[in-house]
Amino acid sequence: MAWGGLGVAHGSDGRLLLLEAPLALFPGETVEAEVRWKARHGEGRITRWLKADARRVPAACPVASTCGGCELWEAGDHGPDLKRQMAADLFHRQLGAVDWTWHPAPPEARRHRIQLHWDGAALGYHRRNSHALVAVSACPAAAEPLSAALPRLKDAMEGRALPARPQRWELATGTPAGEVRATDEKGRTWRLEPDGWTRDEAPVTHRLPTTTLQHGPGAFFQVSPAWAAQAFGGLLEGWDLRGATLYDLYGGVGFFSALLGRRFQHRILVESGEDAVTWARRNLEALGLAADCQVADADAWVPEGLGAAEDLILLDPPRAGLTPGLCERLQTAGARTLVLVGCDGAAFCRDLKRLAPAWRLEALAALDLFPLTHHVECVALLRR
Ligand SMILES: C[S@@+](CC[C@H](N)C(=O)[O-])C[C@H]1O[C@@H](n2cnc3c(N)ncnc32)[C@H](O)[C@@H]1O
Repeated sequence: MAWGGLGVAHGSDGRLLLLEAPLALFPGETVEAEVRWKARHGEGRITRWLKADARRVPAACPVASTCGGCELWEAGDHGPDLKRQMAADLFHRQLGAVDWTWHPAPPEARRHRIQLHWDGAALGYHRRNSHALVAVSACPAAAEPLSAALPRLKDAMEGRALPARPQRWELATGTPAGEVRATDEKGRTWRLEPDGWTRDEAPVTHRLPTTTLQHGPGAFFQVSPAWAAQAFGGLLEGWDLRGATLYDLYGGVGFFSALLGRRFQHRILVESGEDAVTWARRNLEALGLAADCQVADADAWVPEGLGAAEDLILLDPPRAGLTPGLCERLQTAGARTLVLVGCDGAAFCRDLKRLAPAWRLEALAALDLFPLTHHVECVALLRR
């Protein structure tokens, strides 16, 4: 499995062939596929398995092959190992012989936030690489209360108790999973009650093992919050990060500032979302952590020479990663330690290479924060 969850094969003339594998692909399987050859490579879609790996199991989800959300149901217990191999291949190709650690998800990790589409008649997910709707009435990859809320959301739209125009919805629950919120495209939120949906803009609360965080419904938060807190918490503690100021860049509602807590005397959080920053201020104040939380574009905000020797710069950008200009300015940073987090491994490795002139890779980890999918969270510890 290549980075991005694609299966890799070679044509008889040696040309590379990348296969969309809706149900994962074990090395050595024989499949039938529709292939379009281009000048230097081919792209294909698997239509049938001719020789399946013995480790393949029946998917525990009826729409596993079509819904676009999870590719690894049929890989069963071996899914995490396929992902580990995928990450190993990426790191080896991009970074050479580096040591790294793999952190598989616990079996109970589930999504606490799912995005759905309603087309006026059906509620579901978008089919892989398409805008066609795959209707779903349950989602075993989501926390149980979210899955159970799907028919209730559909009924409410059919009965016009909720806005019935076609649009995207987000369902979210806190930690531990319980109360369910539905947020529409306009950002309006409803809470699910036994007798229906009630307008409610109250925050979603996550009571995590070492901290409590809140955010507005519909806002970004870790998809599987307890597992993310455990995985990042263990990693950052193992790296024994502590010091004067934490620069929590792309900081959201303060997840990393809260996790690192009193290991730093002060923290400066930079985040572009105004609501997120409001929640970051509240969260960190409630935890008694002195913080300067700023609404800003982190890319433009970072100056030459950022920080002093005892400081940590932590960057958790969106999928696209860092800009070349930001990597350039980080070359002159005064801080001696940097942590880079990335949910797209290719962009993450590119950024490590851009940072390399000034920053030496000291530790590298891949966290399985998105079980059942090909997505992996990458984390690196760098020193000046
Ligand atoms: C991957 S999330 C990480 C959030 C947070 N670190 C967490 O773990 O919950 C990326 C965050 O960056 C924010 N963001 C996106 N572009 C940004 C920019 N140019 N400057 C600052 N923040 C940005 C998003 O709003 C989002 O909250």
